[in-house]
Amino acid sequence: LVLILDYGSQYTHLITRRIRSLSVFSLCISGTSSLKSIVDLKPRVIILSGGPHSVHSPNSPSFPDGFVDYVESNGVFVLGICYGLQLIVQRLGGAVRVGERQEYGRMEIEVVRACGLFGSNEVGHKQTVWMSHGEEAAELPEGFEVVARSQQGAVAAVENRERRFYGLQYHPEVTHSPEGMETLRYFLFDVCGVDAGWNMEDVLNEEIKLIKGMVAPDDHVICALSGGVDSTVAATLVHKAIGDRLHCVFVDNGLLRYKERERVMETFERDLHLPVTCVDATDQFLSKLKGVVDPEMKRKIIGKEFISSFDAFGQDLERKFGKKPVYLVQGTLYPDVIESCPPPGSGRTHSHTIKSHHNVGGLPKDMKLKLIEPLKLLFKDEVRELGRILNVPQAFLRRHPFPGPGLAVRVLGDVTEGNALDILRQVDEIFIQSIKDAGIYDSIWQAFAVFLPIRSVGVQGDQRTHSHVVALRAVTSQDGMTADWYNFEHKFLDDVARKICNSVRGVNRVVQDITSKPPSTIEWE
Ligand code: XMP
Repeated sequence: LVLILDYGSQYTHLITRRIRSLSVFSLCISGTSSLKSIVDLKPRVIILSGGPHSVHSPNSPSFPDGFVDYVESNGVFVLGICYGLQLIVQRLGGAVRVGERQEYGRMEIEVVRACGLFGSNEVGHKQTVWMSHGEEAAELPEGFEVVARSQQGAVAAVENRERRFYGLQYHPEVTHSPEGMETLRYFLFDVCGVDAGWNMEDVLNEEIKLIKGMVAPDDHVICALSGGVDSTVAATLVHKAIGDRLHCVFVDNGLLRYKERERVMETFERDLHLPVTCVDATDQFLSKLKGVVDPEMKRKIIGKEFISSFDAFGQDLERKFGKKPVYLVQGTLYPDVIESCPPPGSGRTHSHTIKSHHNVGGLPKDMKLKLIEPLKLLFKDEVRELGRILNVPQAFLRRHPFPGPGLAVRVLGDVTEGNALDILRQVDEIFIQSIKDAGIYDSIWQAFAVFLPIRSVGVQGDQRTHSHVVALRAVTSQDGMTADWYNFEHKFLDDVARKICNSVRGVNRVVQDITSKPPSTIEWE
């Protein structure tokens, strides 16, 4: 295991992912975790991440007391990156000071001494790296050597081979450091002797073994499928472990996209052979949403109705099997459970930053279900890889995210008014199909249409019209937390707008949303 202690750098998750891409298992925990939680994980290598703090600030985060003794007496290798290097220098008896030169952005560094870190490079080898620091190592602790310097003469890399401490002042994990991956690879395999054995097949087998051991022969497990990648892969995995003791439910809340129910059910049943009960709760949801225009209110109502649908499903199972379901499968991913050291002033706490309304519904309180979360150590791309091994169709794995409250947050105002939902479904389908036909679906994080509760004047076939306006939104993003609007070619937009107005009755105007997140959010409500 390569353990990453997070000190709040925006690149920390990237380090974890880069290392995993070398087939080495890595985990990321808060940089202020207790010594016990570090020791319990039995890491072979510990990486101290970068971060926005200064080692001189009174509350700057650091590794726990006893950390140095522990790593030295257990032969653990330590690599500090940026702030991590400065922590090592400071805590082991050297000095960090505000540098005469601040180094931000692309920088050239040179290997100045034969060493472990750059063992595959000659002395004098130069490379471009990505720096981002205002302070620098001014005096090294005893036994440490400078092994690379920046073009301005600042310390770029240090090591103490005997004590197994290493440090890079720059960020090897970002693509702006083109040789950074090679440096990490060399460090892990040649310096630390780590094995590259981690792969998704093993993860899958481990998880299946775990679930088989956990679920008793007469236990029943439920899973709410949303039609998204995460819950589908989680359910497919659990089904492989316990077969038809898994009971999935897919709730049609009347807020799904064009033919979504049919398409999703077909994948579940025909391709994945998952035991799914499809509950048609359209009337239940829409009657509760009638007249509601406040976005938060809509979300709350939908959450509550989801809970009552799951509850009813659980009771059906209890009647059928004479025993309450014991477990609930959830497709929680690693980014939702990582705890990090938040940057100062960010307002984030050490705990999770998931928005509660992002979970589909939540759980009925009195069901007292225990959770099975087979994906909770994986990133989205790893879940897709797992899905591929589990034969989940590619087209399904590549689907854009779709929010739990569905089209309710894309029809502004009262969703039940007129044929808003129906118009939106048609517009959305034309937009998405055009994106697929143009071959750009995979370059976009998420694309959808929004129904606006206003009318504008138009002229169609010499007739004055007073019809609806729809907005098109497409964004690029890494994780949905920030996003940029997607820049379509004008010809594409022209074709789509024409097609929409020509084929969807009730729409005479199409606009495009060109705001990023922030200041907007991805969804309109
Ligand atoms: P926002 O609109 O907050 O969305 O920028 C970020 C990402 O989350 C999705 N989203 C949701 N997903 N339940 C979900 O399962 C929700 O209530 C929900 N609200 C937003 C949104 O589609 C985007 O991918």
